[in-house]
Amino acid sequence: MSDNELAVVILAAGQGTRMKSDRAKVLHELGGRPLVSYPVELAQRLRANPIVVVVGHRAEEVEKAVRRRSGDRIGFAEQKEQKGTGHAVMQAMRALSGFHGRVLILSGDVPFLTLETTKNTLALTKKKGHAAVLVTMKPQDPTGYGRVRRGPKDEVLSIVEHKDATEEERQIGEVNAGIYVFEADFLRAALQALKNDNAQGEYYLTDLISIARAKGRTVGAVVAKDPIEVEGVNHRAQLSELERHQRARILHELMLSGVTMIDPATTYVSADSRIERDTILEPGVHIRGASRIGAGCHIQVGSILQDAQLSAGVTVLPYSLIDNAKVRTGARIGPFSRLRPESEVFEDAHVGNFVELKKTKLGRGAKANHLAYIGDAKVGAGSNIGAGTITCNYDGYGKYLTDIGEGVFVGSNATLVAPVRIKKDAYVAAGSTITDDVSADGLAFGRAKQVVKKGRASALRQEAKKQAEASKKKSK
Ligand code: UD1
Ligand code: MG
Repeated sequence: MSDNELAVVILAAGQGTRMKSDRAKVLHELGGRPLVSYPVELAQRLRANPIVVVVGHRAEEVEKAVRRRSGDRIGFAEQKEQKGTGHAVMQAMRALSGFHGRVLILSGDVPFLTLETTKNTLALTKKKGHAAVLVTMKPQDPTGYGRVRRGPKDEVLSIVEHKDATEEERQIGEVNAGIYVFEADFLRAALQALKNDNAQGEYYLTDLISIARAKGRTVGAVVAKDPIEVEGVNHRAQLSELERHQRARILHELMLSGVTMIDPATTYVSADSRIERDTILEPGVHIRGASRIGAGCHIQVGSILQDAQLSAGVTVLPYSLIDNAKVRTGARIGPFSRLRPESEVFEDAHVGNFVELKKTKLGRGAKANHLAYIGDAKVGAGSNIGAGTITCNYDGYGKYLTDIGEGVFVGSNATLVAPVRIKKDAYVAAGSTITDDVSADGLAFGRAKQVVKKGRASALRQEAKKQAEASKKKSK
């Protein structure tokens, strides 16, 4: 056996009946990531090769989700009928032909197994020359789990499934976590000896332990320090339990790394997001996807950031939504702003209440402080976008660009019909509809000329009054 070669097989073919779901169990999300991504990423951190995921129930969807996240270096083996965990591993063996190292077997629904426990398990196989090493735990309630039978010298003898166990065996508190390391050559030979003459009529992977003993080989065990590490998801209550645990852990680690949370109970940060020190998260903030938040940012009440990228020192005022957009140092967003995908707000720019940006670059120090829609646009440094400004970027068929230069002043309620350019230092009068380019330093009026008739207001009032009285009389 080569010393350092490691293959990983991830069991993810089961239906997950107890989830009561149309979706594959391993695609349910924890911390914003599918369950199966946890063992896959653990395998990648171990630099295992090959990594084989056994899929069965909703195989195509599981395969697609794994490829999307983890690239195409992951192999798949299909288990058409779910005839047990031993049968699942048999399906992976073709992908391991010619492999003579060690095989780590993980469950697709056990997300918290640590690198440390895995490495301890691998080290034990190597040190003692065991045919197999399994991870065990001592849960409060061992019901349902396979029990670990040990001999007089504490050596592992076999695993008995709950359904096959005698009353006496059911008293054993140490259980099998479903995570193992096998010598590949032993595994290959022993799988052929598996039978399905048990309570569930399945090929149990756990029978490999007694097979190893029968062949005169030894079996090791590593007890997981924290039972949560090896806890699996079988139903949605467990999923939410693990979610709660995961969230608490993410927030705790962030706080220890220098992020302030005013109220961790109402703060949500996904597993893939990163936040730098001295950033403050206020209550009701959600940081989702793979967001990146720099140091010293202040994200205020109720804001939602999805795959957002914030440089250091950004302020997000309450109830703002930033989706797939970038915000640079010193910029201020909100309250009630919406940044849509591919937008970028440059240094010290301001986006205020009820302003929506879509695919728009708002230059350094530029301001759009109230009630505006700026889509498919470039706004130069220091420009001011007045309240009520709308870029008309869409004619029902195509989308067009509005290109605003530096130092431009766009007055309130301007309608900018794209494609259109408003060049450097131009001035657009309030209420204008702009359909043609405006030259640099140009002053554009695109509205009806105002007329004032002197002293005619009182005459108008009297006329109106007379008319109202006449119609009242008529209706009597
Ligand atoms: C298994 C162990 C049990 C252990 C427990 C820990 C066996 C026989 N028993 O029981 O000793 O205490 O895990 O959680 O292994 N799967 C497939 N194909 C199948 C069956 C299962 O891919 O035909 C996958 C499932 O998707 C799941 C994993 O294998 O990811 C475990 O299967 P599950 O049915 O949950 O096994 P348990 O009955 O929990
Ligand atoms: Mg299970």
